[in-house]
Amino acid sequence: MEESKLQDLLNEMTLEEKVGQLTQVFGQPYLDDNYEVTGPMSFLAVPSELVPVAGSILGASGAESTRKIQDVYLEKSRLKIPLLFMADVIHGYKTIFPIPLGIGASWNPDTAVKTAKISAVETAVSGIHVTFSPMVDLVRDPRWGRVMESTGEDKFLNEQFAEAFVRGYQGDSYSDPYAIASCVKHFAAYGAPEGGRDYNTVNMSERQLREDYLSAYQAAIDAGTELVMTSFNVVDGIPSTGNRWLLKDLLRDEMGFEGVVISDWGAVKEMIPHGVAADEKEAALKALNATNDIEMMTFTYHRYAKDHIDAGHVDEKLIDESVMRILKLKNKLGLFENPYRAASQDDEKDLIFSDAHRQTALEVAEESMVLLKNDSVLPLEDNGQTVALIGPFAEGEDMLGAWSWKGEAETASSLHASLKSALTSGNVLYAKGSAITETTEEWMEEAVKAASEADVVIMALGESAEMSGEAASRSDITLPQSQADLLKKIAELGKPIATVLFNGRPLDLNTVEPYSDAILEAWFPGTEGGEAVANVLTGKTNPSGKLPMSFPESVGQIPVYYNHYNTGRPAEEREEGRYASRYLDVSNYPKYAFGYGLSYTSFDYSKVTLSNDIMTSDETIEVSVTLTNTGNRVGQEVVQLYIRDLVGEVVRPMKELKGFRKVQLNPGESKKVSFTLSEDMLIYVHQDLTEKADAGEFDVFVGASSLAEHSGRFSLKK
Ligand code: NOJ
Repeated sequence: MEESKLQDLLNEMTLEEKVGQLTQVFGQPYLDDNYEVTGPMSFLAVPSELVPVAGSILGASGAESTRKIQDVYLEKSRLKIPLLFMADVIHGYKTIFPIPLGIGASWNPDTAVKTAKISAVETAVSGIHVTFSPMVDLVRDPRWGRVMESTGEDKFLNEQFAEAFVRGYQGDSYSDPYAIASCVKHFAAYGAPEGGRDYNTVNMSERQLREDYLSAYQAAIDAGTELVMTSFNVVDGIPSTGNRWLLKDLLRDEMGFEGVVISDWGAVKEMIPHGVAADEKEAALKALNATNDIEMMTFTYHRYAKDHIDAGHVDEKLIDESVMRILKLKNKLGLFENPYRAASQDDEKDLIFSDAHRQTALEVAEESMVLLKNDSVLPLEDNGQTVALIGPFAEGEDMLGAWSWKGEAETASSLHASLKSALTSGNVLYAKGSAITETTEEWMEEAVKAASEADVVIMALGESAEMSGEAASRSDITLPQSQADLLKKIAELGKPIATVLFNGRPLDLNTVEPYSDAILEAWFPGTEGGEAVANVLTGKTNPSGKLPMSFPESVGQIPVYYNHYNTGRPAEEREEGRYASRYLDVSNYPKYAFGYGLSYTSFDYSKVTLSNDIMTSDETIEVSVTLTNTGNRVGQEVVQLYIRDLVGEVVRPMKELKGFRKVQLNPGESKKVSFTLSEDMLIYVHQDLTEKADAGEFDVFVGASSLAEHSGRFSLKK
């Protein structure tokens, strides 16, 4: 439809129809004539008058169902404005890719583009138009279960992935029927809940919000994301969904977002328990005036918007603007011409979970894995040796992880079967040893027997899928006790042990590291997880992932992240004596640092050169290093560039990631890797909230992780 016609359509709408567009409901009332919700879930019951006017649907899927819902709706509705279908397709629809934290560990934004594109195809043919992804919240606390949905603790890395995910989902144009709209979330700062407890208070200065937390959302907006979802938390004491400063002044006016804002599930009504609204009516008032367009799964707009307009507390113009944004999105997606868009049962059969999609799932899973430790155990050689494979993830346990909605854990490749076929000449003995949180004497004995007959032991351990994701915060982030006991018992046999970890967050590895000669972090690797792990264990694939989030030494250090500030009493400068910023019982440093990850080959970094030691507003500096593969396998290395601003108006982080390159080298091969540093990369948020770079000195660090050594210094002259 021509965009000018949308105004005519809006003019034709009654207030009830307009407010209907602003409400998102379940698909059930359209599929079931006797639809009724009773009992404790009755608060979810869609009011019957809303059924013919609602604007969008949450969580319906499948071409048959979504077409039916659309048909029933169009028949009931007066103006026949098609419904928009939205759902949580987070790391794949049916073909499940590694969790986003694993995708972040690839340090290769192309993996996000590829996986999002495939997710979009599978999602589109099932009749869904919008995915609630990417989640780009900066995260620093692994107790928070939702770190698995993010790409980690660094804003620069998150920006690259935010842009890549949006590009992958949305493609170049909606004339491609398999492109879907993306919804970046959760605006804002949802990733900083106190104590790592989900939905908890977030408390930070506006300066910090601007400096660390906003840029990844901005990257998604600049990439053209169509929607933004509000967060459950407060921002400066006001829940995001009712925070006009946040949604209107900052997001729309300053950050330039022109699309649709949707509340998180029930977040409008949650303003009541938050204690900023006395009742549903006041909650609606706050959300509407904050310019939150769509209310997800509660009905306060439907019930009270009219009263607020009649009373003059909400300007109808605000409602019109919200409706227009929604109509524009529906129009962009071509729904007025074809309300089913790509929904097709034939295409579902052909395209969903196709071999090609699974092949990408395999490659991305391999690329997401991080080798944390390797004392000459891996890769496993196919030399006739006997391998014991032990643990809940060897077979049967869900490798898809949380937010896998349509994924079927049983269809994922099994580690046991994959390892057996990879090690053709040897013998693979299998024993479960333990379930996720419990074991039996018999299981333990079987495991000890298998290990004692083996030359090398692979332990496949981790968290269950339910232990991370939404509402899955943990105060203790070690392995469940039964698995720790199992590992310890097996270690008593003195066999070489490689532990593969399946988990949705950085763990405290105190019960793993001392008993493992090698540790491979596999995250929740998805549909092809078993085969991907087997390929990495046997060296068919050389691991190249790097940590997107620090692994703490102990939970008491949290938050522990690489780009922290210095203190006035740095421990490093006061080795003796008490009055330094340190713990009495643990170091200040994580067990495994941000950016860290090993390979089966080794890399040598040459001396780093800077093209100049003075930077001006017009003159950039080239930072170069020559990387050599000094081992005997092909391998990929992520060369990382960090800077430190030595003196600022506001304290500056010890290191800040400013660039990275993933480079593949053959044995003996060398490559020059260069980065260009310019003044805009040195900008930070000052006390008065202006953004600028200060003249002065900067240290440069280039290397294989955030532990990179000091490599040079330059001055910015202004
Ligand atoms: C709540 C979650 O916070 C959000 O991420 C998700 O998209 C919505 N529920 C919809 O399921």
